[in-house]
Amino acid sequence: MCGIVGYTGLDAVEPILLQGLEKLEYRGYDSAGVGLLRGNSIEVTRASGKLSNLASKFENENSEPGTGIGHTRWATHGAPTSENAHPHQDPSGRVAIVHNGIVENWKELRAKFATGEFSSDTDSEVLAHMIAALLAQGESLVSAVRRTLNEAAGAFSLVILDSSQPDVLIAARKGNAGGLVVGLADDGTYVASDMSALLTYTRKFFFLEPGEIATLKPSSVTIYSEEGREVTRQPYQATHDLTEVGKGQYPHYMMKEIYEQSDVLVSSLQGRYNGLSNTIDLSTEFEGSAISKDRIQGITRCLLVGMGTSMHACMVGRHYLERFGGIPTEVDNAAEFRYRRPLLDSNTLVISVTQSGETVDTLAAMDEAKRADCLQITICNTPGAQSTRLADLSLLLGAGAEISVASTKTLLASIMALHAVSLFLGKARETLTSEIEAEQVVNALQLPSAVSTVLGNSEKLFEVARKYAASEHFLFLGRGLGYPVALEGALKLKEVSYIHAEGYSAGEMKHGPIALVNDAMPTVAVCTRGDVHEKMLSNVEQIKARGGRVISLVTDGDDSFDKLADDCITLPDVDPALGPIPSIVALQLLAYGIARERGLDIDQPRNLAKTVTVE
Ligand code: G6P
Repeated sequence: MCGIVGYTGLDAVEPILLQGLEKLEYRGYDSAGVGLLRGNSIEVTRASGKLSNLASKFENENSEPGTGIGHTRWATHGAPTSENAHPHQDPSGRVAIVHNGIVENWKELRAKFATGEFSSDTDSEVLAHMIAALLAQGESLVSAVRRTLNEAAGAFSLVILDSSQPDVLIAARKGNAGGLVVGLADDGTYVASDMSALLTYTRKFFFLEPGEIATLKPSSVTIYSEEGREVTRQPYQATHDLTEVGKGQYPHYMMKEIYEQSDVLVSSLQGRYNGLSNTIDLSTEFEGSAISKDRIQGITRCLLVGMGTSMHACMVGRHYLERFGGIPTEVDNAAEFRYRRPLLDSNTLVISVTQSGETVDTLAAMDEAKRADCLQITICNTPGAQSTRLADLSLLLGAGAEISVASTKTLLASIMALHAVSLFLGKARETLTSEIEAEQVVNALQLPSAVSTVLGNSEKLFEVARKYAASEHFLFLGRGLGYPVALEGALKLKEVSYIHAEGYSAGEMKHGPIALVNDAMPTVAVCTRGDVHEKMLSNVEQIKARGGRVISLVTDGDDSFDKLADDCITLPDVDPALGPIPSIVALQLLAYGIARERGLDIDQPRNLAKTVTVE
């Protein structure tokens, strides 16, 4: 979603802003803009569509040192036009702001603080009016921003330019809607929505916490707490590199990331799964965290929270936590969790799964858990992200940057992290036998090669994709561990191909979805080896009896669907507990293949954002 970049210092500002915005493109956006301080006025340039439309407006410009802000906008209030793009200014042009998040009471604020006509349909523009109005009343910039944060309802991040203070940027956060990170370097001071925009320039960062306001000058930063006290904080030294991600030989990032999954699994297993002793070990990661051996023994239940694909990882993880961890476990959609007054206590373990670590609803669920003093683990792919700062323990995925909006490799890595943590907890709680531990370790270590086999068979999947690419509706069915796989298959397909796809538990099929079945609505059935194999067989029979077409995912060597299904996708034989891994890869390839047949913008599908920072 929206991305923010700001800079004040000795280097040419406009390339820093444009390059920073480019690094934030992966978050998803539909217009962009920059505001540059030129003398004592602010020059705003904006464009709808891709960042290249904005960059082309600077082609013949001389870049100068100074102060500026940049923004990529993911439209919430008002269409993605250049008028609605940020920065927004007050009518006098004194103040310019870039904003990420939502101002819930913007209509009331417009009535109360308007300093003239509004030139956009956004909820954000009023913030520039408010700050300018308060400055005109003689308030300092920091206190004008503080009052604005207090008056505006919602959660957001904000960066502000005041033309009468050319060497100053103000950055502020309210609630958990997108982070802000301040970067320090010799040439100047930077601010951005996340570190990826700034790693080229510095490794020394301060994260702003909700309610904080920072004053950035070319060689200093001052952070104020919600109560207005100056905050002293040790800088965070980033040790990870910005992986220079290119598509390599692949036509799309999604394809590249799907094909990386065998290697991603290897890194997920390394250091946690010991193939010599056939044991699992996460003790180094748990060491020194609040989740001590005693606290582990005292856990009475586990809650898994996440959104989108990460929630599907949670649904797989629930099976592992119950089966291997021996802990009663529930899964919650993080957006629902916070609004249903969940009953929590300090013996509840909350595991959040979020590849970005910045998803607003997941962070809100974590806040709720923190208030109840729950133990918290976050499974995250982004070092330093907000979720890693909220949790007692972070299990980092190490999957490398995921650029395609549709998540692929981080799902596999999240599932493996949940598998590992379940085995580790079961072992620590003495509910897991060493035989099951060894069996799971041995079976998990076979997954990279199983995934390579699926990838090696991608032509067959693309053939099936071609056959069904014209369908406008799809049904995905699975049971047990196949159920989250079906949900993920449907989600991936709708995300990248814009085809209407429903994921259902196969047991639920007769309670409604079967009414939709006809030859124009193919069903993808997850029928791999496991406890529910026979049940899936009869569900497929029921679809065929009603004239439906079926694509079955089956385990190598199983011929029971040969005469029944219209198409069979054969997957390597893995332990049924780990069956989601090859099945998910097959469904990613199917979705990718169909979207490619339809000639769509696979990496940045319409309307979607990679990092969802608004409710
Ligand atoms: C967005 C992305 C999805 C992702 C979800 C949760 O919807 O488009 O790919 O699964 O957010 O993101 P998270 O970063 O919390 O895993």
